[in-house]
Amino acid sequence: MSVKRIIVSQTPEKIGENVLIFGWIHKRRDHGKLIFCDLRDRGGILQIVFEPKDAQLHELANSLRSEFVVAVWGEIKKRPKNLINPKIITGTVEMSVTRLEIVSQSKTPPFELDKDTLGVNEEIRLRHRYLDLRTQRMKNNVVMRHKIIRLVRDYFDHLDFIEVETPYLTKGTPEGAREFIVPARLWPGKFYVLPQSPQQFKQLLMVAGMEKYYQIARCFRDEDQRGDRQPEFTQIDVELSFTDQEEVLNLIENLMVKMAKTLYPEKKITRLPFPRLKYEEAVAKYKTDKPDIRKDRNNPDELGFCWVIDMPMFKKSETEKKIVATHHPFTMPNAEDMAKYPDDPLKWRANAYDLSLNGFEIWGGSIRIHLADIQQKVFNILGLNQNEIDRRFGHMMEAFSYGVPPHGGIAAGLDRIIAILQREPNIREVMAFPKTGDNRDLMMDAPNIVSEKTLKETHIKLSEEVNVKAGTETSLVD
Ligand code: AMO
Repeated sequence: MSVKRIIVSQTPEKIGENVLIFGWIHKRRDHGKLIFCDLRDRGGILQIVFEPKDAQLHELANSLRSEFVVAVWGEIKKRPKNLINPKIITGTVEMSVTRLEIVSQSKTPPFELDKDTLGVNEEIRLRHRYLDLRTQRMKNNVVMRHKIIRLVRDYFDHLDFIEVETPYLTKGTPEGAREFIVPARLWPGKFYVLPQSPQQFKQLLMVAGMEKYYQIARCFRDEDQRGDRQPEFTQIDVELSFTDQEEVLNLIENLMVKMAKTLYPEKKITRLPFPRLKYEEAVAKYKTDKPDIRKDRNNPDELGFCWVIDMPMFKKSETEKKIVATHHPFTMPNAEDMAKYPDDPLKWRANAYDLSLNGFEIWGGSIRIHLADIQQKVFNILGLNQNEIDRRFGHMMEAFSYGVPPHGGIAAGLDRIIAILQREPNIREVMAFPKTGDNRDLMMDAPNIVSEKTLKETHIKLSEEVNVKAGTETSLVD
């Protein structure tokens, strides 16, 4: 019997035909002599039936266990009316199997894959993420993530934005977190820094005349265990030249409305256009700069978007008792405030804006400084001396001396947006391969030790205390 493989979602149109399907045994149920299995492939789940009349086939079917990979040939038949299952798209049909091949066997999985895994120990799920991703909710999260990213790309593409990839091996860019460093083998004693965001590159792309940039960008922040954050996460990163706050806010508002209406038509947006609150109003009214404006805060299908604008430019850092930038040092301070309080920068507002959704900050951005004297002033207020400014940001100052357009932009925490839309309690549920709260990849077993040879090549000498521990194990990395 030579037939072409179909996927299970196509079976309702194949009644009366003989087809071949590959997939995983999702579940097996024996009813007297009849063996029923749910067969799972990327299209969904299909009921397949083994009748006792072919003894050899029946015996082989008897050896089937959960998660075996099989090939089944047989006829797609209409189910009797009383056996229709309206919950699945193949609920009106089943396959009567005439030939079975076990393609590969499976050990008993460490948790049940035909049930939701949210209640399962997360370390076990993360260690076997490839199994967790077989479950319906997790697979759906990955698929919806893909659809959201596609919608974002289409949206910007239609508005003439260009997606540009920016480097991962680079120099530090301040966003307020600790940085990951990578030793430079060819440059003893020197390090690359993984970017906390593409901030400087996107501004340099404006100097380069791109005018409209976006990127689905990976960002790296060596965060301590702090809330629902990941050491690597994804931003929707956007920058425009010759723009203003109004244009950026409308651009993002239209994107979010389109995303909600196209991909989540069952959800309701609390207020349109999104309300815009000044930072001080938000804090006075909601006691937070990430207000949850929903009418019913227990309703995850209500989407309460709210802009917060006019943030303070600087704040006192809690730990180091110095002045730090609330957003980042490239944000344009409010011109009136600079003129009114030249010596009191803590009173300056910034041309910065955040979008919150149901009490979480999902987008944040600002109009940037494009004038060298204001940038210099901001660096001075932040306590940077000329040497530091030259070393860390000399390239920006130099680029800005070659005709810089006024520009501004914004970036979103994509994982957070997806988690809220998918009604998930944390961003790990919507990332294919996330890390634990203490930054480990349990599946790959990273971070890990490297060989003496690698350490030597990268000019790294471990301190005594670390060395003893590492020396007892053999490294896999050569
Ligand atoms: P910001 O630092 O506010 O701005 O980051 C933008 C958005 O990224 C998300 N985010 C995170 N998500 C998961 N894990 C993390 N560790 C994490 N850190 C941040 C948040 C946040 O709103 N370059 C500027 C943007 C700009 O000015 O254009 C920036 O990175 O949802």
